[in-house]
Amino acid sequence: MDRYAVVGHPVEHSQSPYIHERFAEQTGQAMSYERLPAPPDGFARTVREFAAGGARGCNVTVPFKGEAWALAAHRTERAALAGTANTLRFDADGWHADNTDGVGLVRDITRQAGVAIGGARVLLVGAGGAAAGALGPLLAERPAALIVVNRTPARAEELVRRHAAAASVHGVDLQAAALADCGTGFDIVVNATSASLNEAALPLAPAVFRRGGLALDMMYGPAARPFLAWAESHGAVPRDGLGMLVEQAAEAFWFWRGVRPDVPPVLRALRERLAQTVA
Ligand code: ATR
Repeated sequence: MDRYAVVGHPVEHSQSPYIHERFAEQTGQAMSYERLPAPPDGFARTVREFAAGGARGCNVTVPFKGEAWALAAHRTERAALAGTANTLRFDADGWHADNTDGVGLVRDITRQAGVAIGGARVLLVGAGGAAAGALGPLLAERPAALIVVNRTPARAEELVRRHAAAASVHGVDLQAAALADCGTGFDIVVNATSASLNEAALPLAPAVFRRGGLALDMMYGPAARPFLAWAESHGAVPRDGLGMLVEQAAEAFWFWRGVRPDVPPVLRALRERLAQTVA
C-alpha cells in the first residue's frame, strides 16, 4: 500500500482524503491517503518523517506551499514559475515539487464549466500564492487579455513582471491594474483573494462583470458565497472552487501515479456530500 497525505495547519476539514480515496477506487490503485497536521514551525520535520517512513508523496496546503517549494530538490516548470508548490513526490533523487492548482483552475473552467479561456478577457483578483499558482496556466490558454489586480498593487505588479516572458510567448496582453479601476465587462473574473475569510468585501466595481460571464471564487462553501452572490446579482454566472479542488487533485494523482482519474463523478459526489454536511 503506497502512502500519501495532505499536510497543512489545519487539515481537519480537508476534502483531499475523500477525493483521492475515490480516485484510487476508480483506478484500482493500491494507495492510502491521510491527513497529516504539522505545527506552524514543523513542516520540514513532519514531511521528512513521513517520507522516511516509506510514504510516496503528499499534497501541501496552507500555510506551507512556499516552504514545500523551497525544500524540493526538483520543480516542474509551472511550479518554478508559480513560486509555490501544492504537491510533492518523494523519489530516490529527492523531492519533486509540482503546482497543480493553476491547471486545476483552467480545467475546471474549460472542461467542467465549458467556458473557453482562449480569446477571453480575464480579470485575476489577488496576487498571493493562489493567484501566483493560477497565472502561468491561465496564460497558456491564450486569453486576449489578462489583468491582475490586488489590494497591494506592488504585489500584482511583481507577479506580472515575473510572468512577462510567459505572456509574450503566448501572445497575451498581461497587465497589472488598480482594484477600483481595472476595466469593465470581463468574460471571466477569478477571485483568488482571501478577503471573504476576513469578512471583507472587495472594492471592485460591479461593471467588471459581463452579463453571462463567469465569476469564479477559488474557495467553496460559505467562504465563496458573498463574492459569488454579489457577482450573480450583477449578471455573472457564479462558480465556486470545488471543481478546481477536484481537478487539482486529479493532476496531483497523475503526478504521483501516472494515471488520470475521471473527475465529474467525484465532483458530483463531493458536492452532494458537502450539501449534506451543511444541511
Ligand atoms: P493565498 O496563498 O491564499 O493567496 P496570501 O498569499 O496571503 O494567501 O494572499 C491573500 C490574497 O488575498 C492577497 O492578494 C491579499 O491582498 P494583499 O496582497 O494586499 O494582502 C488578498 N486579500 C486578503 N484580504 C483582503 C481584503 N480584505 N481585501 C482585499 N484583498 C485581500
